[in-house]
Amino acid sequence: DVNARLVIAIDGPSGSGKSSVSKEVARRFGLAYLDTGAMYRAVTWWCLESGVDLDDDAAVLVATRSVPLEMGTDPDEERILVAGQDVRAAIRGDRVTDHVSAVSTTVPAREILVRMQREIIHESGNRIVAEGRDITTVVAPDADVRILLTASQAARMARRGRQLGAAASSNLQAQVVGRDAKDSTVVNFTSAQDGVHLLDSSELTMEQTVQGVIDLVIRDTDTA
Ligand code: DC
Repeated sequence: DVNARLVIAIDGPSGSGKSSVSKEVARRFGLAYLDTGAMYRAVTWWCLESGVDLDDDAAVLVATRSVPLEMGTDPDEERILVAGQDVRAAIRGDRVTDHVSAVSTTVPAREILVRMQREIIHESGNRIVAEGRDITTVVAPDADVRILLTASQAARMARRGRQLGAAASSNLQAQVVGRDAKDSTVVNFTSAQDGVHLLDSSELTMEQTVQGVIDLVIRDTDTA
């Protein structure tokens, strides 16, 4: 039923394969797709761009409240505009990556972003795959299917390294582990809560992981 609600919430640490898997699952079910990490990144870019002191929580909050952010939800065409500017490439750069925890650990800023994310889910007609760190627990605890996608540290490093290719920096491990450690001080994405399926992708290919998610969707709903 293409009108029935189907909210799929996927959380996990960096390098768990969340984004590629979530996008592909959205395509298979004809759903919208929301990358919430990109929203934290876009706000960070906006703060850096407009000279906001990232150590000043009050200033970060004001910037988050007023960020002119436009998020697309088409899994086949990523669209992220800040003040009309395409920031897709900029938000994946080291500058934003190194500073994004300043935004993601500012609790009142999270509340603003969580509200925006709920609005986007609502506007999709509740037909969406939303991925991040707190989707299964905070943003959409009422999602039809909730999954915590994990992977061993070795597997996550290898994936991040491949993703970044030649651009991979020597302190990749410090970057990934350090960022997850900072983020887990405000959100728990390392253990699955009640009703959240744990899916370990360490030994799975991307296609097998997608299939694993699809199996859970079929199990939790009557979607075939
Ligand atoms: O998934 P990512 O690497 O693009 O996420 C960017 C940062 O935002 C990362 O440090 C974790 C944080 N984040 C968060 O705190 N909550 C979310 N729902 C999504 C991302």
